[in-house]
Amino acid sequence: MTSTAHPSPASVPTGSGYAAAPSVNRLRPRRSCLAVPGSNPRFLEKAQGLAADQVFLDLEDACAPLAKPEARHTIVKFLNEGDWTGKTRVVRVNDWTTHWTYRDVVTVVEGAGQNLDCIMLPKVQDAQQIVALDLLLTQIEKTMGFEVGKIGIEAQIENAQGLNNVNAIAQASPRVETIIFGPADFMASINMKSLVVGEQPPGYPADAYHHILMSILMAARANNLQAIDGPYLQIRNQEGYRAVARRAAALGFDGKWVLHPDQVAAANEIFSPSQEDYDHAELILDAYEYHTSEAGGRKGSAMLGDEMIDEASRKMALVVSGKGRAAGM
Ligand code: GLV
Ligand code: MG
Repeated sequence: MTSTAHPSPASVPTGSGYAAAPSVNRLRPRRSCLAVPGSNPRFLEKAQGLAADQVFLDLEDACAPLAKPEARHTIVKFLNEGDWTGKTRVVRVNDWTTHWTYRDVVTVVEGAGQNLDCIMLPKVQDAQQIVALDLLLTQIEKTMGFEVGKIGIEAQIENAQGLNNVNAIAQASPRVETIIFGPADFMASINMKSLVVGEQPPGYPADAYHHILMSILMAARANNLQAIDGPYLQIRNQEGYRAVARRAAALGFDGKWVLHPDQVAAANEIFSPSQEDYDHAELILDAYEYHTSEAGGRKGSAMLGDEMIDEASRKMALVVSGKGRAAGM
């Protein structure tokens, strides 16, 4: 990622304090992002064997207040001693309005910073909250002798204030990798009349999430970040999960949370292109390359069967092909 992808808003100094870009690709696979309570060793053990692209070990809402101090150490142990090969390793800390955040970050990053990819910050309300986390991470990295800037930030948007500031949040630090929609807290914060997370509120005839999802997606795309859809709590309702996941995937989201092992395969499938779309995208790329070449007549547009293809088609095909290649197709 280039530094131009993250212009600093005039009023918000970025806190990272590192000159060179760290050696990290922030666009990691995140089709399925598995939530694992940090206080539950059995789940922490089991999660290592699941085919999720990302795991996040939770110190926030899946972890009871009295269990948090011990869970920090449990997470450190599992990050250092577990086998998380092939997975993006994330820890969700508590939000800055609590008194837990700094201790979560210090304990986890000092203890396991070498075996950790990102910190997820929930209920982000403005850019300053990202800058504060960035500064704290920089100090810990310097103190511990870790590469400065390596640990990324995932920002959860979970209330109206966060959504209003989503673009500034996306630009607040070069560490930010993803913007995540947190539907449960969001629905509560705006008084939405539904208790089924991710489902439409009864009585509203259209998609109540469209504006929220699109705002998050625009902020993510404008800043070269990933957009991730949050949880679907009816874990036994596979069709419900698939329908909600398909909606986010259709818009262009990169992945979705999974709360149960049964949801992992669905997310991996839905956020990968179908084989048919992938093959077609590769065909467009090959055909475009040929037609624009000397041998193909240096054409700007050409026909592929019944379909006209041009530079815009190439860009669309690149998105599908890139996702397919990342998924190992
Ligand atoms: C996730 O944190 C949510 O509130 O949906
Ligand atoms: Mg939440």
